[in-house]
Amino acid sequence: MEQELQSLETEARQNLQSLDDKSLLEDFRVRFLGRKGKFSTIMRQLGTVPAEDRPRVGQLANSIKAEIEKLFEAKQQLLEASPDGSRSHTGPDLTLPGRYPAPGKLHPISQVMNETCAIFENLGFSVAEGPDIELDYYNFEALNIPAHHPARDMHDTFYVSDSVLLRTHTSPMQARIMEAQQPPLRVIAPGKVYRCDSDITHTPMFHQVEGFLVDKNVSFADLKGVLTVFTQKMFKKDLPLRFRPSFFPFTEPSAEVDIACVMCDGAGCRVCKKTGWLEILGSGMIDPEVFKMVGYDPEVYSGFAFGLGIERIAMLKYGIDDIRLFYENDQRFLAQF
Ligand code: FA5
Repeated sequence: MEQELQSLETEARQNLQSLDDKSLLEDFRVRFLGRKGKFSTIMRQLGTVPAEDRPRVGQLANSIKAEIEKLFEAKQQLLEASPDGSRSHTGPDLTLPGRYPAPGKLHPISQVMNETCAIFENLGFSVAEGPDIELDYYNFEALNIPAHHPARDMHDTFYVSDSVLLRTHTSPMQARIMEAQQPPLRVIAPGKVYRCDSDITHTPMFHQVEGFLVDKNVSFADLKGVLTVFTQKMFKKDLPLRFRPSFFPFTEPSAEVDIACVMCDGAGCRVCKKTGWLEILGSGMIDPEVFKMVGYDPEVYSGFAFGLGIERIAMLKYGIDDIRLFYENDQRFLAQF
């Protein structure tokens, strides 16, 4: 009888574990704990147990009954509390609509980078990529920035060794390509660049697209034409451009290019600091000194070059006023693009 009682406890426990519908609770109670149920049936044999064993078996029977009742009540409470009264919290609810994994998307910077490259490719530029870890020679020397030139200070460079660094701009690709190929050239070089710089408009790693065109009789008007088409296609508006005199050791003359503020159409707002203009890139006519370094004759060839900041373009395109948002990996931000 003791064995039967113990088997009954195991059986009741297993039954309750798989029971997940409130309407089956009563059936369980009648089968196991009812007057004609399994427990009562076993208890009817108590009279046949020798008198000296009866107290022990009686005690075991009481504790097993109490245990089954406890398990039953716990299950009852669990099912009563479940939302539709019929299923356990722990099991899956197969009537609920399925959950779909959110589809992956390209990062907004990758989207703007791809769009930028596509615009220039449609204008006949080919795409070239170069190393992020660059020689000092290509990053500076070949671009007319010798050692100790004050222009090096503007770049906040991460050095790997005296002659190796993380490139501070994509302009070294001008020297690399011109050294290896003869004009005419029409090339863009997209990629990551690095500067020890961080605030709401600067990040230590950002993206640039270098563009340059070298041929006979290339003029500043060609540069202006190419950049005008780019801004019209990128911002889907006929935005005025402004060339502001500037200085880069590898271009002469040099200009920083502003577009009419995309937020206020040039009227003046917080984003453009009330000027009506926003800077998007550096540019100029390639300096004859750079041509000499790569063996081109500056009397025969001329060319223009520009370097776009992709994060800056993305901020203007989407109206974002803090560049760091792009790199915080906040799904709520990224899912909007
Ligand atoms: C240059 O890097 C030149 N190499 C551009 C150039 C190329 C001039 C060819 C002439 C001919 P600049 O340091 O101004 O220039 O950077 C170009 C653009 O990169 C800026 O207009 C800005 O959009 C972006 N930029 C610069 N620093 C950061 C930064 N820390 N974070 C994000 N964007 C930046």
